[in-house]
Amino acid sequence: MSTTAVHQPTSSFQPAFADGTLTREDMNFIARLVYEQAGIVIREHKEAMTRGRLARRVKALGLNSVAEYCAFLKTPHAAGELPELINAVTTNHTAFFRERHHFDHLGREVMPRLMQERAGRRGRIRIWSSACSSGEEAYSIAATCRDAMGSRSDLDFRILATDIDTDILAKAEAGIYPADQFERLPADARTMLKLEGGGRGETRIAEDLRRLVSFKRLNLIERWPMSGPFDVIFCRNVFIYFDTQTKASILDRFVALLSPGGFLYLGHSESLPSPHPQLRLIGRTIYERTA
Ligand SMILES: C[S@@+](CC[C@H](N)C(=O)[O-])C[C@H]1O[C@@H](n2cnc3c(N)ncnc32)[C@H](O)[C@@H]1O
Repeated sequence: MSTTAVHQPTSSFQPAFADGTLTREDMNFIARLVYEQAGIVIREHKEAMTRGRLARRVKALGLNSVAEYCAFLKTPHAAGELPELINAVTTNHTAFFRERHHFDHLGREVMPRLMQERAGRRGRIRIWSSACSSGEEAYSIAATCRDAMGSRSDLDFRILATDIDTDILAKAEAGIYPADQFERLPADARTMLKLEGGGRGETRIAEDLRRLVSFKRLNLIERWPMSGPFDVIFCRNVFIYFDTQTKASILDRFVALLSPGGFLYLGHSESLPSPHPQLRLIGRTIYERTA
């Protein structure tokens, strides 16, 4: 992937940042590495936050400064550190039933249509949560669809939930969350999630929802191992970290994996980088794949 226009290292040495730990050259080096590895563009207003996150890796590795960490990343021994670097710089903010209108559309419009089309033949329904973070999005999908399916047992229903961040995926798979995370949720959402009491202020997503979801590591800018088709793809609140070229290429690959008539949900502040001939906007950040 080309890195033109993204934080090219400056040729001459520039002064250290105010905290004295990272030069402009090192910041550019980190930004370029993160872009090459994950497609994430570290914009200038996010640099201070990034330095803070790198400090966590400095501590974990027993180094003395972020500058020392950058020097380590430039050595041949650093390959194993790259996933940790990416884990450290990703933003994982998420919530159960975030952007509720997507789940209402899924439960009221999409699932009834799919259940009717696929009735009686162990009909296959596949949904992909493609930047799932700690799992709240995938479990909200599971809860919505389980509720829509009721006691139907003639459907082969699965959710694939993927993220680049291995630390957050471990949390997602466990399905255990602080109990107070659910307090602000509307009562119907809490009921759909079928929460089980955990110990010490924790709550666990019920087993019958957890088993609908498979969590896997997947980097959206690398090759994808699955062949689809998917009936629904969620790609929410990750495009904001990508540039236009990366978004366009991922969108083309989403379209290729979506069934005709399938749906793509983007995040609240996201849109297509340019109109796509096979995607029709049918609701707030909801796109339908045309034939
Ligand atoms: C802000 S969270 C969004 C979570 C959820 N989709 C939502 O809207 O609530 C963004 C997620 O994208 C993931 N991510 C960033 N770059 C990625 C990439 N190249 N491939 C896959 N996931 C990526 C991050 O690890 C993070 O968990």
